[in-house]
Amino acid sequence: EKVALAFSGGLDTTVCVPLLKEEYGYDEVIGVTVDVGQPEEEFEEAYETAEALGLEHHVLDAKAEFAELCFTGVQANADYQGYPLGTALARPVIAEAILELAREEGCTGVAHGCTGKGNDQLRFEAVWRSSDMEVIAPVRELGLTREWEVEYAADHDLPVQGGKEGVWSIDTNLWSRSIEGGNLEDPGYVPPEEIYEWTAKETDETELVEITFEQGIPTAVDGEELPPVALIEHLNEKAGKHGVGRTDMMEDRMLGLKVRENYEHPAATTLLNAHKALEGLVLTKDERSFKEEVDAEWSEKGYEGLVDHPLTKALEGFIETTQEKVTGTVTVKFEGGQARPVARESEYAAYSESAASFNTETVDGIEQADATGVAKYHGFQGRLANAAAKQAQEK
Ligand code: ARG
Ligand code: SIN
Repeated sequence: EKVALAFSGGLDTTVCVPLLKEEYGYDEVIGVTVDVGQPEEEFEEAYETAEALGLEHHVLDAKAEFAELCFTGVQANADYQGYPLGTALARPVIAEAILELAREEGCTGVAHGCTGKGNDQLRFEAVWRSSDMEVIAPVRELGLTREWEVEYAADHDLPVQGGKEGVWSIDTNLWSRSIEGGNLEDPGYVPPEEIYEWTAKETDETELVEITFEQGIPTAVDGEELPPVALIEHLNEKAGKHGVGRTDMMEDRMLGLKVRENYEHPAATTLLNAHKALEGLVLTKDERSFKEEVDAEWSEKGYEGLVDHPLTKALEGFIETTQEKVTGTVTVKFEGGQARPVARESEYAAYSESAASFNTETVDGIEQADATGVAKYHGFQGRLANAAAKQAQEK
């Protein structure tokens, strides 16, 4: 019997390798690392640890699928309590890739090293439990603690790269970098500058960048067309230099626990701000306000890792219809750590300069004076109600 393990080479997934044999009776373990844009060192750590363990190890490239999902997130203005969902959206992509490989390799089980306190266990398993694989979560099921793992690794001569994991627990992919743990667990602790790798301290310099969208999907930066992965990488660098996209927040996890989270997401912030600015130009007032509710619901499902959920797909039906008009360009100014839209253009603009201007009298046969009737009625019912209430109180 074979089992495919989501493998990073960190302590949790390293101790899972012997445990899957000893405790779960598997003859063979395959380690799988899915590339969603982690830094090179993480693959090295996975390779080296796998080699030292004598573990069969596969690396699967899912960057393109992940970037595509991030761009669906842009169309949905994806935001959960201020977090653009980098870790969350990566999980179903990783889970799918592992499941596919597990099938190809004739595995009967799939395993992850997540704890029983976090979100990731739920996101992985939401995908895996649609298959008939045995789903295994050794850290959660065996009630492992870090201390126990360190001791177990020492007793079993497991290749754990002590120190390399550092004080922080970090999760990095194309869309965001998350830093938690250590002193950051105290919400009153001010994060030191060293936790940031993608974002510089804000500078006095400013820069303009032009983002092109086609039906709500970013397609070019400063007129240069780029495929999704390259576009995100390019903007992470460009906006990161200006300190754009830092979030320090309290996050409500699915199980109800609050956690203190720090994130960096320069490209996500730039693209989300630009996208919202373009929607402001082309969508009607009622489309915008209803879409805010749809977006919030999509974001909730995205956070939960339920991107294939029937409601998620139904919400995307609405979102896609609105995005037919979200084509155009937005100029964003990087300034003081912010990415602020400063100009927007679209041939679908639901905007008439002459109608809004103070310098024209008549538009489409409508004159200023035509608003007089509207002004008389505006607030009419409230005035009646207030007058009646006043009279009743005076009695
Ligand atoms: N709390 C975030 C989420 O659930 C990210 C957690 C990332 N993990 C980490 N070790 N930094 O999406
Ligand atoms: C974990 O608990 O395994 C990582 C954090 C999370 O899943 O939210």
